Amino acid sequence: MAKTLLVTGGAGFIGANFVHYWLAQYPKDRVIVLDALTYAGNLANLDSVSANEKLKFIRGNICDTQLVEKILVDEAVDTLVHFAAESHVDRSILGPDAFIETNILGTYSLLKAAKKVWLDGPAPVPHRFHHVSTDEVYGTLGPNDPAFTENTPYAPNSPYSASKAASDHLVRAYHHTYGLQVTTSNCSNNYGPFHFPEKLIPLVITNILHNKKLPVYGDGLQIRDWLYVEDHARGIDLVLQKGQVGENYNIGGHNEWANINIVKLIGKLLEQEFAADSRWAEKYPTAAAAIAGDTESLITFVKDRPGHDRRYAIDAAKTGRELGYKPQESFESGIRKTVRWYLENDAWWKGVMDGSYKDWVAKQYSHQ
Ligand code: NAD
Ligand code: TYD
Repeated sequence: MAKTLLVTGGAGFIGANFVHYWLAQYPKDRVIVLDALTYAGNLANLDSVSANEKLKFIRGNICDTQLVEKILVDEAVDTLVHFAAESHVDRSILGPDAFIETNILGTYSLLKAAKKVWLDGPAPVPHRFHHVSTDEVYGTLGPNDPAFTENTPYAPNSPYSASKAASDHLVRAYHHTYGLQVTTSNCSNNYGPFHFPEKLIPLVITNILHNKKLPVYGDGLQIRDWLYVEDHARGIDLVLQKGQVGENYNIGGHNEWANINIVKLIGKLLEQEFAADSRWAEKYPTAAAAIAGDTESLITFVKDRPGHDRRYAIDAAKTGRELGYKPQESFESGIRKTVRWYLENDAWWKGVMDGSYKDWVAKQYSHQ
């Protein structure tokens, strides 16, 4: 039976990739996107599907409980997939307020609305509330520690991860106390198209194209487990189809990289692209280091992030065993695809960085 999804944060990086994936995979389903369009949310991310009549965009804040209730009722939503969040650790260190508001209070607002509409009426409505979370709630690992499993105790270290941990606990409590039909997924670092250029991978690509320094925090030996964003969407799909209500599922890539090696790898890939195709040197005349084959000269070690988690690694065995989850994209092909996507799509990343594309696209949607 066709579903009606409410996707919060569907104009952000992972949310938008999920919307693209879902509309392609399930053309009969309706997808309602609720997004406040913060600095990280851009309708440009949904531009190529904006004419799809199964997609509806609503600009609004998840903290507005009445609005959420109205959408759940008016649109007859049966599945809520919750991506909306403040997501950048460095910003959470500089100013945690927005993280507490959106990640904790915003999730609480969605849970209240979902309970009222789906559980508190004359008869319960069949539903699913899927909460998208992160591996960062588990804290940090030593070099030889086993990867995080769903049973690893929560030990968040940044205001970002603490706010996500709090939201995970609220979701769990709404299941145990009220019987809300919830699932939660905890995923490792994502990369791919539409990744906002403040995060490591797109920042390195766009800085190289501008011939700007590549800031590497501390000794650069911190480790992250990188997953192509479409594999995250596939993992969430499996949790929605086959996951047990009340359970958490880890989603990851078995793909651990030290930051410094990621930075060097992206530099090498860009050098190869520039050497193979003269179009890029013409399009990006400022990319002197990439043109000269000397991107490593841009690497600059800078002061470490306070409280910087040393290593994340996800053990996704349960999700593999119970749901048949397996990443489809190899890192080799995914990172090359991503580098090429940024080379081709400079209009997108220049626009989202200076806000101009956002204003332009918002006008196209002003009727909604
Ligand atoms: P993002 O910052 O790119 O996008 C967040 C989106 O949420 C934006 O479109 C923004 O406009 C919207 N938003 C923010 N506050 C809102 C509010 N109050 N009301 C409505 N919309 C609001 O984030 P992302 O990287 O796409 O992450 C999406 C989710 O996935 C987050 O919950 C994040 O914690 C989780 N996650 C991210 C990663 C990663 O590597 N980026 C990994 C694991 C989990
Ligand atoms: P980031 O993309 O911010 O994701 P997260 O902190 O959620 O893992 O950062 C990935 C890693 O890269 C993290 O260890 C911090 C590091 N980093 C840098 O070394 N330099 C940078 O400029 C940025 C943005 C991140």
